[in-house]
Amino acid sequence: MRILLSPDAAGAGEIAAAIIASSVGDRPAPVLGVATGSSPQPLYRALADRVQAGLDLSRAAAFALDEYVGLPVDHPESYHAVIAREVTGPLGLDPARVHVPEGAAADPAAAAARYEAAIAAAAGVDLQILGIGANGHIGFNEPGSAVDSRTRVVDLAPRTVADNSRFFDGDAGLVPTRALTQGIGTILDAREIVLIAWGESKADAVARAVEGPQTAELPASFLQRHDRVTLVLDAAAASRL
Ligand code: GLP
Repeated sequence: MRILLSPDAAGAGEIAAAIIASSVGDRPAPVLGVATGSSPQPLYRALADRVQAGLDLSRAAAFALDEYVGLPVDHPESYHAVIAREVTGPLGLDPARVHVPEGAAADPAAAAARYEAAIAAAAGVDLQILGIGANGHIGFNEPGSAVDSRTRVVDLAPRTVADNSRFFDGDAGLVPTRALTQGIGTILDAREIVLIAWGESKADAVARAVEGPQTAELPASFLQRHDRVTLVLDAAAASRL
């Protein structure tokens, strides 16, 4: 694992954006894996600045990591809506090439299988952007997720529901309890991975992901087995390394 440090979150976003621009900026039609949550926001802001300055991502495809099950796509906190607002628009992506798991499908398990097939049909993800949950989850692969898991329906951990309640008026009762997520195996198939983490609340998960054993109890620890992973951290997230 390569680890790059910045004093603050904005700087971490700049570093991560520079990696992405140099890795995929010259490809005619790169395939990005995109994450939601607060972690990648500084990265998307820095990447949007590069798009303003001439980086062209209009032919890139993008696959989101995950989506809540049972939330209408037009709900402002559905990842369909978040990706459109924070990623597709600011990065100048073509909405027709942006994919998000169909969490509102009548048959979410079938939607999961379709999503895996769509990623395969695109010849896989060139560069996967990741955040990390305070409990070490990646995507919505909660503790207990198998290293070879694929896109599937999962139950959210109580900690994740509580953490994400800030997006639902602070009311954990409004947070969906199930999600569709790319599996750990799906994520590890990406040819390159950039994980961004900032803030003290991520320090423990980051330390265990980097220095602990590879274990399903800390899903991000499985990133150790990928040969092209960069963690971009601010000082607080790196404080327990
Ligand atoms: C969320 C998302 C993840 C994200 C993580 C951290 O629940 N499903 O993809 O990386 O948890 O969230 P945040 O970046 O808001 O702390």
